[in-house]
Amino acid sequence: MRRLLFLGDIIGAPGREAVVHALPGLRQALALDWVVANAENSAGGSGITRAIARSLTSAGVDVITLGDHTWGQRGFEQEIVETPQLCRPANLSPRNPGATHIIAPGHDGARLLVFTVLGRQFMQHHVDCPFDTAERMLRELEGQYDCALVEIHAEATSEKIALGWYLDGKVSLVVGTHTHVATADASVLPRGTAYQTDAGMCGPHTGVIGREIAPVIGRFLDGMPRRLPVATEDVRLNGCLVSIDEKGHACTVSRFEWRA
Ligand SMILES: [Fe+2]
Ligand SMILES: [Fe+2]
Repeated sequence: MRRLLFLGDIIGAPGREAVVHALPGLRQALALDWVVANAENSAGGSGITRAIARSLTSAGVDVITLGDHTWGQRGFEQEIVETPQLCRPANLSPRNPGATHIIAPGHDGARLLVFTVLGRQFMQHHVDCPFDTAERMLRELEGQYDCALVEIHAEATSEKIALGWYLDGKVSLVVGTHTHVATADASVLPRGTAYQTDAGMCGPHTGVIGREIAPVIGRFLDGMPRRLPVATEDVRLNGCLVSIDEKGHACTVSRFEWRA
């Protein structure tokens, strides 16, 4: 049996410091084969840098994924080509630099395929169909992986659930990110795919999806632009924990939470 921990969006310094602090111990305590983490908000709340990616992989993250904030940090479009163990969403235009997927070996040599697709409902990005992209990727990479994790970075619950059913039996885990609030629906679908609509976030929970409360309320009240600093209090790691059998099917899945 292989064990995979997926961590939801890492938010700013509080989120990444908690991951770096906790992960070495968690890897051992939970006997993890793989840790995959979305880090699209790890640099000041938007985007990532090569240095941050390096600190996360040094702490034990095997694969870093991203989302709609992939290009949030200036210069990352150059850095990404020299950043290993990291992939940008697969359904961005092929003109975008960076890997579309990562295949990570586990302790027994099993290969985990990881990629992210962006949703299209209530999202600003113009991207290829996440359903067709996922199916095409799995077809093109067939034979190169033993287990697969497909992340759906999306706003709409319905789009995420639909992709879970669409890929049931074809991958080990379909997990949602982007809304930053963990959902209580982790389950193994009938054909052996673990599913959770949103993994939640690794970051401060006394806030509004990771940002300080007062400026967010202010923006809702007057609609004016303002800085939305990353919050600091009640840092938790959120995600899901999956056990996977020899055939790449999920046996169990549970919501994961660690508190600082
Ligand atoms: Fe996010
Ligand atoms: Fe996002």
